[in-house]
Amino acid sequence: MYKIRKAGYKDIGTLVKFGKQLNSFEYIFAQDFHKLDTNSNKKFVEYFRRHMRKRSSMILVAEYNGKPIGYLAAKIQKRSSIYKLNRVVELLDIFVCTEHRKSGVGTRMINFAIRQYSRRGFSHVVLFVLSKNKNALRFYRSLGFREFVKEMYRKA
Ligand SMILES: CC(C)(COP(=O)(O)OP(=O)(O)OC[C@H]1O[C@@H](n2cnc3c(N)ncnc32)[C@H](O)[C@@H]1OP(=O)(O)O)[C@@H](O)C(=O)NCCC(=O)NCCS
Repeated sequence: MYKIRKAGYKDIGTLVKFGKQLNSFEYIFAQDFHKLDTNSNKKFVEYFRRHMRKRSSMILVAEYNGKPIGYLAAKIQKRSSIYKLNRVVELLDIFVCTEHRKSGVGTRMINFAIRQYSRRGFSHVVLFVLSKNKNALRFYRSLGFREFVKEMYRKA
């Protein structure tokens, strides 16, 4: 049985493992941007700890029969105060273990996070996705996300 819950400090080891798996996956599409620095383990731990401490952030764990099989990380992104919409939810990471994909787990994590943030008055959700990650693009589109900006890069 699948279950979605908020992560706790006891999950850090698993989160670091999943975070690294997500990074390796994205490395295939964008090597320059996903090559890990030295000490990355420590930095992953700090990343998850920092977001767990902040009330504005959210780290969720998906479980199957009590065993962690995925996670989601989100935070609040501040925009310029010239805008009425000056804070939006930003989905940072989402990862589901290969053998549990296409079973609705990713959808459940996103819906859980959006429900919680919308109860707190947040009305818009944004995310970045690599253009080459076609499956993730399909996944987000299936959840109602639409492209509205393109981030571009070149080597200097
Ligand atoms: C993207 C990811 C989180 C989706 O999680 P998931 O639990 O497999 O997604 P769901 O089962 O909730 O899928 C919901 C819908 O998204 C679409 N979708 C999801 N995975 C898809 C795939 N591999 N190919 C095509 N469509 C897909 C489908 O429309 C699916 O509905 P359906 O099963 O009724 O066809 C998961 O594939 C993953 O961890 N991928 C690797 C990491 C990654 O790319 N993360 C996103 C970084 S931006």
